[in-house]
Amino acid sequence: MRVAVTGGAGYIGSHTVVELLEEGHEVLILDSFANAAPDVPDRITAIAGHAPRIVRVDITDAPALTAALQEFAPEAVLHFAGLKAVGEAVSNPLEYYRVNVTGSLVLLQAMQAAKCRRLVFSSSATVYGDPDQVPIPEDHPLRPTNPYGHSKRMIEQVIEDWGVANPEIAAVNLRYFNPVGAHASAQIGEAPSGTPNNLMPYVAQVAAGQRPRLSIFGDDYDTPDGTGVRDYIHVVDLAQAHLAALGLTATAPGVQAINVGTGRGYSVLEMVRAFEGASGKPVPFDIVARRPGDVATSLANPRRAADRLNWTASRDLDAMCEDAWRWQSYLLRKNS
Ligand code: UFG
Repeated sequence: MRVAVTGGAGYIGSHTVVELLEEGHEVLILDSFANAAPDVPDRITAIAGHAPRIVRVDITDAPALTAALQEFAPEAVLHFAGLKAVGEAVSNPLEYYRVNVTGSLVLLQAMQAAKCRRLVFSSSATVYGDPDQVPIPEDHPLRPTNPYGHSKRMIEQVIEDWGVANPEIAAVNLRYFNPVGAHASAQIGEAPSGTPNNLMPYVAQVAAGQRPRLSIFGDDYDTPDGTGVRDYIHVVDLAQAHLAALGLTATAPGVQAINVGTGRGYSVLEMVRAFEGASGKPVPFDIVARRPGDVATSLANPRRAADRLNWTASRDLDAMCEDAWRWQSYLLRKNS
């Protein structure tokens, strides 16, 4: 099948493109390369043994995006392109709405012009905000707490309304929990520019000796060891969930939201210990104040994914840490 992938050179997008190519799909990556290294497509090709097509385009550039989709005529689009740092979104909300919301509107209009009716959208568990219950089911109220989360919720709403007006549309809003890890080949992974916002890349840089110590944001939460608990999911499992969602859009018209997580949580301290085990390196840390906006526990109820996608995560915490460490070690060698 011909599949266009916005943000296909990014962290989750690149892993998904590998899975698509390995399944024999024809892939067009649409990416601005604003947050992706220029050699990612070559690395994808080296892993998968097939090359994706590439168009360098900004998601908000309507004429260029429309032309690219018209030319490629995809049967489906996987939409990853967007900005994703919560802190940055709080200080620069207009830019987040411009890129995430306007960019998605431009994409849907370009899809309409190209008569493409199948979509899988990269949403986030952040749409739930501070949860009333864990594990979180998809029918939990949506009340995000920052502009990044609002932008994801708005896009989900736009897609739902688009589906109501066009009954032939088949779309899946995948709500990711905490993606971590890297491809086992260590050819692709997450390469945050500057100080990492998220736990796993920060821990990896401390283990690699690139940062002296981890700050653990609070040990007085109502959790077994007092540190925050999250539902970490291996990025390759997440990539495979996209292929399952793509399959669902072939048979299920309408718009649906599906959580992508494991349903199993780990605390910050458990993550640190697991990473020390996988890397054989110490991860020194300090306990500091809570980070504003953090919740104690966030866990997916993964039942709908199992029922509708026939998909469950298969990679465990050790695999997440080992693959993240292999990738971090590669980055370290490359930059030394
Ligand atoms: N943490 C630390 N120290 C750090 C970084 C994180 O202790 O240096 C802790 C956090 O307090 C939290 C846990 O590690 O308890 C995980 O934090 P992350 O930043 O890795 O992940 P979040 O769950 O906060 O964020 C994720 C996504 C966001 C999304 C959010 C809400 O990265 O994009 O979930 O769904 F908005």
